[in-house]
Amino acid sequence: MSSKLPPAPSGYPVLKNAVQFARDPFEFVERATSECGDIYRMDLPAVDDVFVFAHPDYFDRVLVSDIDAFGKTEDYQRAFGHGLLSVEGQQWSHQREMLQPLFYREQIKGYTDQMVACTERRLETWKEGETLDLEPEMKNLTLEILFSTLFGRALVPGEDQDLRDAADGLNEWFTPSSWILPPWVPTPARRRFDQSTKRLRQEVRRLLEEGSDQTGVSPSINEPSGSNVQSIPEQTAAASTTPDLLTQLQQARNREDGPQFTTEEIEDQLITMVFAGHETTAAALAFTWYVIATQSDIREQFQEELDTVLDGGRPTYDNLQNLEFTDQIITEALRLYPPIHTIPRQTITDVEVGGYRIPEGHEIHLSIIHVHRDEQFYEDPLEFRPERWTNEFEGELHDFAYIPFGGGRRTCIGREFALLEAKVVLATIGQKFQFEWGKKDEINLEPRVTTRSKEGIPLKICQR
Ligand code: HEM
Repeated sequence: MSSKLPPAPSGYPVLKNAVQFARDPFEFVERATSECGDIYRMDLPAVDDVFVFAHPDYFDRVLVSDIDAFGKTEDYQRAFGHGLLSVEGQQWSHQREMLQPLFYREQIKGYTDQMVACTERRLETWKEGETLDLEPEMKNLTLEILFSTLFGRALVPGEDQDLRDAADGLNEWFTPSSWILPPWVPTPARRRFDQSTKRLRQEVRRLLEEGSDQTGVSPSINEPSGSNVQSIPEQTAAASTTPDLLTQLQQARNREDGPQFTTEEIEDQLITMVFAGHETTAAALAFTWYVIATQSDIREQFQEELDTVLDGGRPTYDNLQNLEFTDQIITEALRLYPPIHTIPRQTITDVEVGGYRIPEGHEIHLSIIHVHRDEQFYEDPLEFRPERWTNEFEGELHDFAYIPFGGGRRTCIGREFALLEAKVVLATIGQKFQFEWGKKDEINLEPRVTTRSKEGIPLKICQR
């Protein structure tokens, strides 16, 4: 094995690469790859070096061909206990096997009406001519959809602020300042994280208790928790509706062959889903609306497709399958603006990658955003071109050059859910409204837990 460590980009004498990284992490990654190539070391003062991989061959190595040499980082376990995102080994295979069927297309399909209804309810709050920041707006909407489909609990637009704050607070564990501070430092962000998980656990436990009082029935299928909360419209309770995840997990406890999770494990799973599932999908949607607002050729084609395929009707699972251009828009948005810009891992043993030694116990960052914008794989990578996604192009693309949902066995369990949700939201809103971008400049990206726009995505709402 090589004894040579990967190169580190030039930095300051004491703080090394920490200052540049904290100031502008995306800019740092770009500069570091042009200075050092597609594998390098971040030299950080207070914590161990972090290694960055920026080539799909290395993604394949970490996520598939040498997967046992790379584990999840300790941060995930500290944050989400026994949730699917953090566990490993036997415990992970067991959980994934139990949860996977609940995320099959056939199951997810049954959430379509609920997704449409949540979107329609949010649209009732919109006013012609007002400017909305689409980042928080889409986050509110995706949280409402998750609560409805996973918890069976209606979150009403403009209400339940404590639960919205708690969902938001889950990200605090992973703020960039936390990447460069040891885990035992009780930063305000980490304290907010603890309060958030406490509030969400309390809510899950309340719903579980309500559920066990109503044997065999959905605990609270979109029933209000307080008198001022409305239930989801009648049409969502159609026979084809899939029961919410919490109910399914609870009912399975009563069957011998079902997933046998303890109450604490159910809490961990649901908190994990809120963390992994709402801000990611919201980011994908906010960036998609930004592109549709700023590129008139894409907007026209998108609207024409909605008008032809849906003909003014309510989106259904079946008619959504015919929105081919909308599919391409989503695929391209997830390339140019991948919500998860970086996948973290930790070496379990010393490994040699790209001719360099990566020592045991060190953190690795797979830079998805760098590869998604690399001209080796994409012509004019910074241009938004949905039409590049032909079968022929996909067939020729390196398997790991497009991984918005990760890859290998730890690939996103919510992929089908997120893609359906994105299409529902685009189709429901896109039939009624369009947006105007009032600024001259383009957005600037910054990496929080998900990829974000530094200035938000303020768009003016116009009726179509
Ligand atoms: C556009 C939206 C989404 C994106 C871009 C996304 C991205 C990802 C990525 C990159 C991973 C792999 C992480 C890793 O390997 O460390 C992942 C895993 C995961 N995602 Fe998603 N995700 C999205 C939506 C969702 C939704 C809607 C849910 C749940 C309802 C969800 C639940 C999960 C879970 C539980 C895992 C862990 C899977 C495992 O380790 O077995 N995600 N996601």
